[in-house]
Parts: sequence; structure tokens; C-alpha cells
Amino acid sequence: MDKKKFYITTPIYYPSDKLHIGHTYCTVATDAIARYHRLRGEDVMFLTGTDEHGQKIEDKAKEAGVTPQEFVDKIVCGERGVLDLWKLMNISNDRFIRTTDDYHVAAIQRIFKKLYDNGDIYKGTYKGKYCKPCESFWTESQLKDGKCPDCGREVQDAEEEAYFFRLSKYADKIQDLLENTDFLQPRSRVNEMVNNFIKPGLEDLCVSRTSFTWGVPVDFDPGHVVYVWVDALSNYITALGYENDKYDDYKKYWPADVHIVGKEIVRFHSIIWPAMLMSLGEPLPKHVFGHGWLLLDGGKMSKSKGNVVDPYILAEHFGVDALRFFLMRTFPFGTDGNFSNELLIQTINTDLANDLGNLVSRTTAMVGKYFGGKLPAGCGKWDTPESFDTELIALASGLRARYEEAMDAYAPHKALDEVFKVIQRANKYIDENAPWTLAKDMEQNGARLAHVMYNLLEATRICAILLTPFMPESMDKLFAQIGAGEDCRTWDSAAAWGGLSDAAAPTKGENLFPRVDMEKALQELEAAAEAARKAALPDIELEPQLTEQVDFDTFCKSDFRAVKVKACENVKKSAKLLKFTLDDGTGVDRQILSGIAAYYKPEELVGKTLLAIVNLPPRKMMGQESCGMLISAVHTEKGEEKLNLVMLDDKIPAGAKMC
Ligand code: MSP
Repeated sequence: MDKKKFYITTPIYYPSDKLHIGHTYCTVATDAIARYHRLRGEDVMFLTGTDEHGQKIEDKAKEAGVTPQEFVDKIVCGERGVLDLWKLMNISNDRFIRTTDDYHVAAIQRIFKKLYDNGDIYKGTYKGKYCKPCESFWTESQLKDGKCPDCGREVQDAEEEAYFFRLSKYADKIQDLLENTDFLQPRSRVNEMVNNFIKPGLEDLCVSRTSFTWGVPVDFDPGHVVYVWVDALSNYITALGYENDKYDDYKKYWPADVHIVGKEIVRFHSIIWPAMLMSLGEPLPKHVFGHGWLLLDGGKMSKSKGNVVDPYILAEHFGVDALRFFLMRTFPFGTDGNFSNELLIQTINTDLANDLGNLVSRTTAMVGKYFGGKLPAGCGKWDTPESFDTELIALASGLRARYEEAMDAYAPHKALDEVFKVIQRANKYIDENAPWTLAKDMEQNGARLAHVMYNLLEATRICAILLTPFMPESMDKLFAQIGAGEDCRTWDSAAAWGGLSDAAAPTKGENLFPRVDMEKALQELEAAAEAARKAALPDIELEPQLTEQVDFDTFCKSDFRAVKVKACENVKKSAKLLKFTLDDGTGVDRQILSGIAAYYKPEELVGKTLLAIVNLPPRKMMGQESCGMLISAVHTEKGEEKLNLVMLDDKIPAGAKMC
């Protein structure tokens, strides 16, 4: 029999900056759902990738002094880039698409032409604002205080020739799709779309631009590039071979079972994308699921706010599986949630170290201690079960069905909650049976003790199967520790109590989830974040040169002289000031105060030949007079301000004029 197909996607990422924990959340969730379907034996296609075109990328590349392709290559394929992160996070995507891939570009040109040929794309004018010096088009909402957001100058009304997609034509059909089917989930997102976008009147969509070039060119009208969302959304079909020869499984996998997307891009996926597909005459995806955001201090994470959380730091610190688990366990998938390091550590300690970790280590240790690591054959059966035996067995036996219901409703947090109810029940079962008491009389209680151990291992096995999509690596290790072979790690065996052989030989292994010392970890995370922030800073930053000119005569009025340091000391009660006694060639000592105590010790300057401006009006600082100013060179290095006094050749006599 043919396996059931399951096609699942994540949004393809803008490689305009490195990915943060919010992006990681979305991809880990999709990965867990994809792994769940594989566990069920389905033929899964899981797609992710990068969305690499558009003005933002073009601008960022220009800023960085590289080509747009070089810019995106570095973020996608470079060290600690998108591909590295997905590898680290154990993301099991079957395919990775880049919208700059040749086959995708060619397919987009054909898709655009198809939409044009069937009359759904027409030429019109795009009205907006134009900044002449920057040669940039802006929409009203992009302006900053009504001015160009780049240079702050006045903008003027302008028009640009552009192609439009007849989105308005599909308004009724889309409304029907949203309101009368389960296409868009969770249901709460439907009203948002209908009330905010469809009811006010769907306007036709501008789908080409001529004011920048980093995009897929419209091949039948040079100068136009395809709107980035038309280009990006189509990835879901081009990656299967739609309108290209690179792949040939469009028929096999399309329509997608689900597009998992963040809430701010639900609009594109639930209005524009189905309209495009309707126009192309292709089937619609079965579901779009709009998940919530991970917030930081109640707000959205963004590079510009400087509040992004680096998934590399967290994964390296706590382990990939612990991080994956935390993301899925803590935040209800359809709504926003507040991320914090404290919450992450608490979850690791409570669920993984205490509940799951302890269950496994206590059980395997007891089997080692009381049975030499091997349970007696037949211990899976017990003729006169206690109520707590029945309760544990019933709870664990019914777990797969409850888990399945939650996973199928895209509620991984609920599925995990069900698993942890069983884990907690199993821990309680240890206390109820008090194995240490039973072990006091092995002759009398040995068989009962073996049965208790078997029940614990068996409940753990069922939980571990269902935790595999969330923590694949750790569950492999856990199976080995409880002595569960390949045949009893399957989806089918998760619904059948008794899958574990009663001759299993568990071994107490490494501690899978060590307890985290909250205070120490928080300090280490802060230090790691600070180090990463510093590493990302430019090596050297210079003050921009002044553009305002001074005339030559004004410049000549400044009297720069070589001065020799006769004495130098700290100014009392000032952390900043040094007091210099200087020979300026006049025969009368000159006193200058300079705010450089953070950079020099007084004794290292005595005897040096420095540069000073000597005709500034005297100033009082900390009650002392300063007659002139010493000249220094300043720059910023890795975010830290550096200062160096300008030192002259000692051959230059005191008082020599600089000109
Ligand atoms: N390129 C588009 C998607 C095109 S799909 C055809 C895009 N890219 S993105 O990089 O900006 O965002 C990718 C995904 O990350 C989106 O689903 C977005 O919602 C998600 N997230 C970005 N920040 C997030 C959080 N703080 N929390 C949760 N998800 C977040 O949009």
C-alpha cells in the first residue's frame, strides 16, 4: 500500500540578518511536526529555505559594500549562518530552496507570464513618493515624518509603471475559503483576515517594481522585477518541480498539507497565495497555521531593537534537545509567549532534570542494584494488580491517542503536556511502591519489585517514543538506557502496553539532562551574549569627516606647538583629569589639564614631546586653570573608545610651530 503523503513547509527566511530564537521556534515546531508524521510511517516532504530578493537585501548589501548575492551567500551558507543553524538544531528538512536558485528564478518568470497570459496581471501605475537624491520610491507609510527614511530629505509625488495582480477578483472566493472551511488555523486568525483585509475591500496588488533591480526580472518587460512575495510564496511549488525540471514530485506532494507561518505573514499565505493558485488553476494547500510570536520583555524581537536572542548560545549552553523541548513545551503554539532565560532554565530543571531524568536514572539504577541489570523473565505480568498499577498502565496505554489528537490539531504543547502527565504519574508510582522497602526482602517481594520496575520502564518507553520528534538524539540514548530495541520504538508499539521485552537489560548511562545552576548559567549567558555582541562590532570605527569647510585664514589662527612634559600628575578628586606642566619654548611653564587619566599613567608621559594648541582661552577645571589643549587621536575599536596622545619626535624642540 502507498504510504500516506505529508507535505509541510516553514516560511523561507529573509537572510537580511542572522536568525534569532523566534525564527528557530518556527522551524523547530515544523520539524517536530514533520518528525511526528515520519514516526507514523508517512512519506513526509519537509521544505524550508531562504527568501533572498528585494530592496531590503539590495540596500543592506550596498551598505556592506558587497553584491547582493555575496551578501546573502554569507548569511545563508557562511559560518553560523542559516544552514549551520538548522544543522545544529537537528532540523530534518528534505529540501532547502533558495529563491536565487536558477530553477526557481526561471519558474517564477513562467508563473508570472502564466498569470499575465490568463488576464490576471495587467499593467498600471504605482503611485508613491520619490526621493530624487536617493532615486528611491517610497509608500506613504514608509516615510519618516513625511520625509525620505534614508536621507531625511523632502520627497515628491511620483508614479512608476508597474504590473498589478487582480486580487480583487478573488475576494469572494477567498472570504468563503476562510469562513467556511478549516483552511486557516487557529480559527481566531480568520476574523482578523476577513475584517481587516477583505471586508474593507481587497485592492489589486502591485506585483512588479522598476525602482530596484535585486529580484527576478520580468522576462517580457525588462526593467521590471517580480514583487518579492510572488517570488517567495511560489517557492512552495517550485521546490517540487512546478514549472521547472529540477524536481519532479509536484504531482506527488502538492497540495501541501500545511504551511506553518508566523502570524504577521498569515495575510500573504491566506489571501494572496490562494488567489495566485486559483488564478494558476492549481489546488490550494489544505491548511495554513499561523503561530504566535516569541516576545522579549513583551515586545517583538528585532535586530534594530537589539533584543534578539542568539539560538547558538542557548543550544551550545543547554544542549540542542533541551532547547527544542523548551520551545515546544512552554509556549502554546497559536499564541504569543514571553521568552526568558529563567523560564528556559526552570523548564529544563523541572521537566527534564527532575521529572524525566530522575525517572530514568532512578529506574535504571534500581534495576542495576536489585537485579544486576537484568529483569527476570515473566516480570511483565502480575495477576493481582494494585490500583496504582492499573492507573499507570491505563494512563500510559491511552497516551498515544491523546498525543495524536493534540499533534493533529497543531498543539504540540498539549501533546507534551499529556506525555508529562504520564512521566509525573510514573514518578509517583515509584513512591507508592517504595521499591527500597520491597528490596529489603527479595525472597518475599522480588517478583513484585521486578514487576514494578517493568512497569516503570514500559511507561518510560511509551513516553520516549512520543518525545522522539521533539528530542531525537536524547531519546535514542534513553532507549538504549532502558534497553528498548528498534522494534519497540515504533509508533504502533506506543499504543500497546507490554512492548518492552520483560528480559530487557537496562543500563544506567550518562545523565541525559543535568540540572542547571540558575545563577551561574544566567551569568554565563550574559557573558556569552556580551562576547557575541562585541565580536559582531566593527573592528575599527571612525568619526565621520566633517563636511562643513573652514577657510584657510580661520585655520591659520590656531597655534599648534610642540610641548615637552616636565611633570604630570593626577588631579585630586578627579578620575579623569591629568595635570601637565609643559615646556612650550617660551621659558615660562604652561599648565594644561587633560581628561585622559583613563588612558595614561602620569609617569609614562614625563619627558614626552606632545602636540598642543596654545591659543585657546584659559579654562578652569576642578578649580585649576588649563591653558590650551593636548591633541589626541580617537577612534572606536570593537565598540570601545580608544585615545592616543599625538607624540612627536623628541628631536623637535619645545615651542616648534606646526604648520
Ligand atoms: N521571507 C518571509 C517568509 C516568506 S514565506 C513564503 C519572512 N521571513 S522572516 O525571516 O522575516 O520570518 C520567517 C518566520 O519567522 C516568519 O514566520 C516569522 O513569523 C517568524 N518569526 C520571526 N520572528 C519571530 C518571533 N519573535 N517569534 C516567532 N516567530 C517569529 O517572513
